[in-house]
Amino acid sequence: MDRRKLLSWFGLGWLVSLLPSSLLGCSESTPSNTSSSPAKSAPESVAAAPSGNFKAIGTVAQLDKDGSLVSSDKKIAVVRDPKDKTKLLAVNTTCTHNNCAVLWKSDKKQYVCPCHDAEFAADGAVIAGPAKKPLPTYAAKIDKDQVVVSA
Ligand code: FES
Repeated sequence: MDRRKLLSWFGLGWLVSLLPSSLLGCSESTPSNTSSSPAKSAPESVAAAPSGNFKAIGTVAQLDKDGSLVSSDKKIAVVRDPKDKTKLLAVNTTCTHNNCAVLWKSDKKQYVCPCHDAEFAADGAVIAGPAKKPLPTYAAKIDKDQVVVSA
């Protein structure tokens, strides 16, 4: 076997040995168990999230003055738990009936949807339809003088 033929065989062998790994590198990587992803498998609530990024949405003074706090994007509302004022309850303000933004009614201690009058408890539970699903909830706490929510 001459030198040129030998080198071409080595080149071909090297190319063939790289082929499987390069094919794997090009394949789309998919997590082995997407069903355990917290975002997909968790019901509507993230309140039980073990650790999250808490973001400030207002001050405790504002919360106590106004009775509720709403995030700047209007998607999260926080109130004190009517059953235990030391606890905070945060919900997603998007009505589960047809996506209108619910509003906190301090006098009733519940969220009311302006579109079709669904009513939700401070913890997001449905009090009156037509909504059937509770509002999604988030973990909320006081950090120094700030109300922070994990969303
Ligand atoms: Fe809220 Fe219909 S959108 S009750």
